[in-house]
Amino acid sequence: MNRSYIQEEVSFTNKSVEKHYSPGDLMDKIIKVLKTSGKDINSITPDDLIPLEELHTRGREATQQLTGRLHIDENSNVLDLGSGIGGTSRFIASKYRCKVTGLDLTEEFVSTARELTRILGLDQYVTFRKGDATRMPFENREFDFVVSQHAQMNIENKKKLVSEIYRVLEPGGFYALHDIFINAGSPPLDFPLPWASTSSISFLAEWDRYKSLLEQCGMKPVAEEDLTQASVSWMNMMAEKASRQELPPASLPLVLGEDAPVKLKNVMKAMHENKLRIIQAVFQRD
Ligand SMILES: C[S@@+](CC[C@H](N)C(=O)[O-])C[C@H]1O[C@@H](n2cnc3c(N)ncnc32)[C@H](O)[C@@H]1O
Repeated sequence: MNRSYIQEEVSFTNKSVEKHYSPGDLMDKIIKVLKTSGKDINSITPDDLIPLEELHTRGREATQQLTGRLHIDENSNVLDLGSGIGGTSRFIASKYRCKVTGLDLTEEFVSTARELTRILGLDQYVTFRKGDATRMPFENREFDFVVSQHAQMNIENKKKLVSEIYRVLEPGGFYALHDIFINAGSPPLDFPLPWASTSSISFLAEWDRYKSLLEQCGMKPVAEEDLTQASVSWMNMMAEKASRQELPPASLPLVLGEDAPVKLKNVMKAMHENKLRIIQAVFQRD
């Protein structure tokens, strides 16, 4: 296939992905709902954002578990790949007081992440960049750690993604992922889903294939845990809370948009039908 045609396809897909994640007024909505719960945006604490800022299954618990698999310290240089509105980046910065860079395709998420980080006084540690994980705007061997949660589902070219992760890591550096994979031979998924309104921007990999791409690239597996059951239990618990109207107004459905209930219903259905797998794993670069 012609190279410029492939580039056009990539940028068309990226625009659709960015549109999917861009409500257009996210920061205003966050300010408004915090206000209705009696909180002023300029005096929020990190705890106020926990239910809102972790755009992945098992929220903060998963972030603590994933980053706890690494030996990050104050001298580390960490990349949060597909950083969303910055929950993982801010957690790492506040816990380890190290340099963190968040990279994300969605301009609105990048600007929201910057604003929330500034308000919480963590902008001396965390920088957010807009960019594509398959063409990262970073030098070779720039980072000690790449951390990434629920970010490869929108990326079609896994080979390029993996080779970019390898390129930006120091030799001996670590890639820690927490992501959603499709089980081999699964029937089609129902859309919309939290990461894709339609199948045209959903590129779920099979775990074994993704793992072998990483290994072929020079990344050695050092840890792996299947968290599918734990994630199903967490989703059931969240659905119960939602039905009892016990979720705080500033929580995940706000970021997912007006069709959050159907997106969440479809992902739960796919989990119950055993179509999806949730994996945390760590790889070390050679
Ligand atoms: C489900 S959100 C997860 C955000 C964040 N990792 C978290 O767990 O809170 C997926 C994120 O991946 C980003 N993304 C999708 N494709 C990307 C790409 N090619 N390069 C960089 N970011 C991408 C989206 O913009 C979105 O912010």
